[in-house]
Amino acid sequence: MTKIELLIVICLALFLFGAVCNVVKIDKLALKDVFEKHFLIGAALNDDIVSGKDPQAAEIVEKQFNTVTAENVMKWEKIHPKLNKYDFDASDRFVDFGLKNKMFIIGHTLIWQSQIPGWAFVDSSKKLLSRDAMLARMRDHIFTIVGRYKGKVKGWDVVNEALNDEGEFGKTKWLETIGKDFVAKAFEYAHEADPKAELYYNDFSLDKPAKRDAAVRLVKDLQAKGLRIDGVGIQGHWGMDYPIREDLDAFIDSIGALGVKVMVTEMDIDILPVASNYMGADINIKVDLQKKLNPYVDGLPDEVQKKLTDRYSELFAQLLAHKGKVSRVTLWGVYDKTSWLNNWPVRGRTSYPLLFDRNYQPKAAFYAIIKAAEKTK
Ligand code: XIL
Repeated sequence: MTKIELLIVICLALFLFGAVCNVVKIDKLALKDVFEKHFLIGAALNDDIVSGKDPQAAEIVEKQFNTVTAENVMKWEKIHPKLNKYDFDASDRFVDFGLKNKMFIIGHTLIWQSQIPGWAFVDSSKKLLSRDAMLARMRDHIFTIVGRYKGKVKGWDVVNEALNDEGEFGKTKWLETIGKDFVAKAFEYAHEADPKAELYYNDFSLDKPAKRDAAVRLVKDLQAKGLRIDGVGIQGHWGMDYPIREDLDAFIDSIGALGVKVMVTEMDIDILPVASNYMGADINIKVDLQKKLNPYVDGLPDEVQKKLTDRYSELFAQLLAHKGKVSRVTLWGVYDKTSWLNNWPVRGRTSYPLLFDRNYQPKAAFYAIIKAAEKTK
């Protein structure tokens, strides 16, 4: 072998060694380690993941995350489908999965106006329940569920989406039957049922000033009543230019100032065209609209992928910049294929909102948020 040949072989060997090291290093990267000093990081889990039907997704969760939220199985319609019937099969599986993996388990959600059957608010003659009867039903629901997972579920989204964009209570059956203190009552019962569990208020658009101020009032009101509230979750169903930086900063600062935790509880970033922008637009043919609203059925073009990556990076950098104030970031799902955004707000779209792609591979956004953490001292 000539000297030149030897040199080439050595260079090749070094190159291969470097590449292997890199692969191993990347393979070892786990979000829960990267963000350990900053916040808990997690995902919402569907039943396929915990029941063993989607083992590749389960593997991602076990490796990457240290907190899990029930995507659907603890919602009223699933866990309490009939008046005298609770169904704990799926919720038990979810909690067992979290316990087995020593994760911080979040129960989602006790009191909400969606995904709840109509019977919950009426008596046997379909008449709206009285305040007292509704309170009794609410108490039974909360005691049964929180009681069952006492000491296991560490934090509960006690009330979800009670406020509207104007900063008032939304017109829900909860408000109609019980009155404004339905929120306080829910927190009171949840605390009685498990005094050690953390209790949260959870909602979307809390960056919008009127809604943010309403959330601040809500927390203050609970605190003034001497009730336990540990945190406020902003859902984080975000887009390419929403929320704006100043509003998100103001939300984190104002909730943080109340001495409660700030959490991003349902994060995903929607890169697809905003459906409401097309309402009333000059598009007559349905097929055309379908195409316009669902443009990336065969994959994201590079420049769009880059935009999504940059947006993830920017938002994580912003959350990290509020040192210590954000206590948890939970993604609303594990990988793109099973995200709820494939079917909302438009059915049957091909969506790209999460950190893992349709083939369970980490996306550029995954590496970008790791970089954002590395840049944060
Ligand atoms: C969504 C689930 O992801 C879907 O699977 C289900 O069909 C509808 O609900 N805000 C919430 C979540 O608080 O519970 C919702 O989850 C998404 C919006």
